[in-house]
Amino acid sequence: NSMLSWQRTAFHFQPEKNWMNDPNGPLFYKGWYHFFYQYNPNAAVWGDIVWGHAVSRDMIHWLHLPLAMVADQWYDENGVWTGSATILPDGKIVMLYTGSTKEAVQVQNLAYPADHNDPLLIKWVKYSGNPVLVPPPGIDDKDFRDPTTAWLTSEGKWRITIGSKINKTGIALVYDTTDFINYEKIDGWLHAVPNTGMWECVDFFPVSKTEGNGLDTSVNGPGIKHVVKASMDDDRHDYYAIGTYYEKNATWVPDHPEIDVGIGLRYDYGIYYAAKTFYDQNKSRRVLWGWIGESDSEAADVQKGWASVQSIPRTIAFDYKTGTHLLQWPVKEIESLRLTSNEFNQVTVLPGSVVPLEVGSATQLDIMAEFEVDKDALEKATGSNATFSCQTSNGASEHGALGPFGLLVLADMRLREQTPVYFYIAKGSDGNLNTFFCNDITRSSVAYDVEKHIYGSSVPVLKDEKLSVRILVDHSIVESFAQGGRTVITSRVYPTEAIYGAAKLFLFNNATDVSVTASLKIWEMNSAFIRPFPTDEM
Ligand code: FRU
Repeated sequence: NSMLSWQRTAFHFQPEKNWMNDPNGPLFYKGWYHFFYQYNPNAAVWGDIVWGHAVSRDMIHWLHLPLAMVADQWYDENGVWTGSATILPDGKIVMLYTGSTKEAVQVQNLAYPADHNDPLLIKWVKYSGNPVLVPPPGIDDKDFRDPTTAWLTSEGKWRITIGSKINKTGIALVYDTTDFINYEKIDGWLHAVPNTGMWECVDFFPVSKTEGNGLDTSVNGPGIKHVVKASMDDDRHDYYAIGTYYEKNATWVPDHPEIDVGIGLRYDYGIYYAAKTFYDQNKSRRVLWGWIGESDSEAADVQKGWASVQSIPRTIAFDYKTGTHLLQWPVKEIESLRLTSNEFNQVTVLPGSVVPLEVGSATQLDIMAEFEVDKDALEKATGSNATFSCQTSNGASEHGALGPFGLLVLADMRLREQTPVYFYIAKGSDGNLNTFFCNDITRSSVAYDVEKHIYGSSVPVLKDEKLSVRILVDHSIVESFAQGGRTVITSRVYPTEAIYGAAKLFLFNNATDVSVTASLKIWEMNSAFIRPFPTDEM
């Protein structure tokens, strides 16, 4: 539908049409990045799920390939659901995925490339003995899904985890295997958290405590921590925690029980779900993919003929400076789309003011901004609002002593539509400062059939750090990274006026007691021109 085509993104991954959800089995093979995804070939709503497939040299420019797997067996007739790839020491690939059977029982299946000499891995074969795993005793038929990438134990066995729940406790089951066909269930679970509900799309991976590079999923030993991430079916958010993996009894313990999986930190405080990492052996980094859904109505999705995009892949690493957070950052390759840039140095934004930034068309941008706050004012401000939260505040129109201040993206000239991305510094009565990073989409569109929230969370700011933010704007997506990626917010917005040439960019400061100095570099972004699979009929 051309009426809504301006919402289509220009450099985020998406199929040509219809519904997409979770990222599946990402991997690098013979010079190509492979991306598979949950796809409904028949409609712009969830259902009839099969595996879409695309390849890229750089994770930015994509070529769509034929469907990798369709629902053609009794054990996946009701859906070819989420799964993960494992690269074996001989370079061969195995794929484990969940099938929803004819009777809607969740089982795990094995698949592999028909031809390992084909770098595009176009044809996939399902193992003739599928399913390889069925729900174990005590686990409901509908609570057993999304196998992880396998990692090696020191005994040389492969180990995987699969999300589930018992009553209201979210759990990650563990299995060992040597051949991906026969499995031994390990007693207990990798981890469990009461009252978190079903854990979907569990991910488990090592991070280095000292180095920024990523680690192969099997790496273990001193200097390493392990991350558990689960997608909470109950609240539709991805939560992670950093902790210690005990190989012997196949368990994992969080560093801080109060910020455990499902009750602590999130990958993203906006719309972002079912994320999955893979180790990119090409560039020695761990890369995170995540599904960004829609926040308009289902009717609008049907009308525009598509729903969902994938985030720009993010490198993910342990933040050794805080010791509590992961850092997420758009992969370096995205910078190849940067076109002309504009720089703004030391722009003073007085309390209560809005400053336009002349950047030409503002629908495809990569923005890097730093904010300095007057130190005297910070000290002088009287403490009070220690209980601030983005969600319960008045959003960007709040007038606090030390915030909010930041950027208005996808704003029209009259600011009828605007999507503020901003900081808010709260000062407790003890004098301590707590910085929040928020994204207010309540005025992002004059349309009424879209969700209008204030997203965000606190972000650690260390001594002598400036406040910094990176924002990727792509028509209906705003992906924002604070403090190098400690806190991330992705939102979908559907402006009706702030589109194409009418979309503008502003600085704003609604703090009453402090002026801020902003320095920015802003690039216009090229489109990624995702290509369809060539067919004879063209
Ligand atoms: C997560 C999820 C998975 C499941 C898949 C089905 O979004 O529900 O648990 O495998 O999507 O499409």
